[in-house]
Amino acid sequence: MTAERGERDEYPGADGRTSRAAVAKRVEALLARMTLEEKVGQFHQGHNLGDADAADIRLGRVGSAIVASSATAGNDRQERVRAATLNRLQRVAVKESRLGIPLLFARDVIHGHRTVAPIPLGQAASWSPEHVRRCAEVAAREARADGITWVFTPMLDIARDGRWGRIAESFGEDPYLAARLAEAAVRGYQGDDLGDGEHVAACAKHFVGYGAVEGGRDYNTLEVSAYTLHNVHLPSFRAAVRAGVASVMSAFCDLNGLPVAASPDLLRRILRDDLGFGGVLVTDWEGVLELTRHGVAGDGKEAARQAFLAGNDVDMVSGLYRDHLPGLIRAGRVPPERLDEAVRRVLTLKFRLGLFERPYVDEGEAARVQFTPEHRAATLDLARRSPVLLQNRGDLLPLGAGIRVGVFGAAATWRGQLFGTWTLDGEAGDVPTLLEAVRKVHPGPHEVWHTANIDEALDWARQTDVVIVALGETPTRSGEDHSVASLDLPAGQPEMLEALHALGVRVVTVVFSGRPLVLTRVVRASEAVLLAWHPGVCGGEAVAEILYGLVNPSGHLPVSLPRQTGQLPAHYSFKPTGRPLATFPQAYRLSDERDSPLFPFGFGLSYTRFEFSNLWVDPEVPLGQPVRVTVAVKNVGERAGETVAQLYLRDVVASRTRPVRELRGFERVALEPGACRQVAFTLTADDLSFSDETGTPRLEPGEFRVLVGENSSVTLEGAFRLLAEGPQKD
Ligand code: NOJ
Repeated sequence: MTAERGERDEYPGADGRTSRAAVAKRVEALLARMTLEEKVGQFHQGHNLGDADAADIRLGRVGSAIVASSATAGNDRQERVRAATLNRLQRVAVKESRLGIPLLFARDVIHGHRTVAPIPLGQAASWSPEHVRRCAEVAAREARADGITWVFTPMLDIARDGRWGRIAESFGEDPYLAARLAEAAVRGYQGDDLGDGEHVAACAKHFVGYGAVEGGRDYNTLEVSAYTLHNVHLPSFRAAVRAGVASVMSAFCDLNGLPVAASPDLLRRILRDDLGFGGVLVTDWEGVLELTRHGVAGDGKEAARQAFLAGNDVDMVSGLYRDHLPGLIRAGRVPPERLDEAVRRVLTLKFRLGLFERPYVDEGEAARVQFTPEHRAATLDLARRSPVLLQNRGDLLPLGAGIRVGVFGAAATWRGQLFGTWTLDGEAGDVPTLLEAVRKVHPGPHEVWHTANIDEALDWARQTDVVIVALGETPTRSGEDHSVASLDLPAGQPEMLEALHALGVRVVTVVFSGRPLVLTRVVRASEAVLLAWHPGVCGGEAVAEILYGLVNPSGHLPVSLPRQTGQLPAHYSFKPTGRPLATFPQAYRLSDERDSPLFPFGFGLSYTRFEFSNLWVDPEVPLGQPVRVTVAVKNVGERAGETVAQLYLRDVVASRTRPVRELRGFERVALEPGACRQVAFTLTADDLSFSDETGTPRLEPGEFRVLVGENSSVTLEGAFRLLAEGPQKD
């Protein structure tokens, strides 16, 4: 089999057994022995399988199982995975079915398995692909030890509306940041060799556009122009495909008048042909059945036909492929070549995962590899880089010795809630609370006071020097099927802060959330504000270390924070309009609200200060050549710290309207006090081009501006000219 576009000639880490040619040979040999029903069986993904499903497995009517007991596993209580149960089912498939084809076991391991990392939005705030990769690797190892071979992550939807609960699962609003983190996550989950027993197949989801559902309402319809689709929603998927992602999940929403799961244009032309994806395409939960609910298929049989012809290989849960594809093939309504193409993909994945050699999992493995000190350390490392310091009036933070501290607010004693949405296998008992963590690092001599009672808090607050108020939203307020109309904090929380503030108490607010909440009142009523997202198993500890200066905060926003809900959309990379405001770069024009967000994309403070200077840009570059940019970053404060150098680009005149600025490079920079480093960026043709509405990349000559600094509203600016060989466009 020749390599498909976008794929390497060999699978990463391939040895003789797993080389592309060797796998293809084994696939063909097996395919030749399969009956029609057995082939279709490979496409059926059951859920919550138990002994009652043994008969179907024996008949080869099940190819994979999602280990989940309900449709919205992210916010429902789920049973822990039991390796013994999975082994039992696997034994039926391997030993008792005619061809002995092993099952794939899939699970929503979204941000960690037993060792829970920050939610993906919080991971994105680290702007650290390497830490994200490492935590994905930890999750893969732990999940595989439980018998899971396929994880439904990373979610690569670009999310610009915080009302959408699933923004928690995303890498935020920016296609470039999401693309870099997508590559990192895929590499982490899949490693160099899917068959090494420590990695799993990743799944880039939800292809495509789901993040733009109207009004942020989950599952809603959406309209996105082809131009925006190509420039905003596809790049993260392209990056995942280039990184070799083994599977993709089609979205179950409808886009521009056709459910994605029924769209050959999106799934075959764009995903397969343009992006070059050659792996397994799975529907979302009941995505096939939902075609009848969308009203584009009159019955289950027609839904199965449409979804299969559109390109979906595996039917998650609906059972409609299993029930109808054999008949459709026999009736000539689905070509047999399409059938074989899809079977090849599923079998290839099973071979690559080494399942034919090692179908079972060692039932003692989980206890050995899960929640080890090493895994915890990797997670803590990421959790330390995720919280974003939004405000620090009078340098109140970090807290020092000899002060009297009170810790109030419901979130101060959260354990499992610190995990965030989509945590199926974390254990609340593993999590130190913020209060415990603060008590551990507080240097004394005074004790840290705590009360859960608001009246007591107000009373005691007068006798403290500083109160740490931990508030925000519980995980079940975000995630799938949990959108909100208002981005305000839950009722009562701002009022509590304002009451404390009115007493003249110095307030440090720690916000835990799964979305970009409106923090306008919080910022007014607090001296310092730390946005900690839902930070995972080490979150309490990471936050306490930051509050006391053991760790210098370095998270930067992966999403703009609006001043109020009605200010949406608040993302930074908007178009200039024909009547731009002079107040560059925000130009929304509302009569009752300012144009700028409360905090811009990319923003984040540190306990030290960084200065950016000496921006140098290649002044003139021939079309197709890389553009070099350098900038000096200096730590001008008194503590060691890390910042994120961000590079934004503006294409001044182009054949289509282009955003006022777009992220095109970033790098984490760690500097000792007084130290200075030159950071170099190279802008490739990919970085300088955009796609037109047909998806064709356009690299256009002319003037570009380059803006570099610590967030998306920076003004350190340079420029270069891309030279055309022929006459210039401007
Ligand atoms: C529906 C969600 O949209 C998807 O992200 C998830 O992987 C599946 N359910 C399986 O739980």
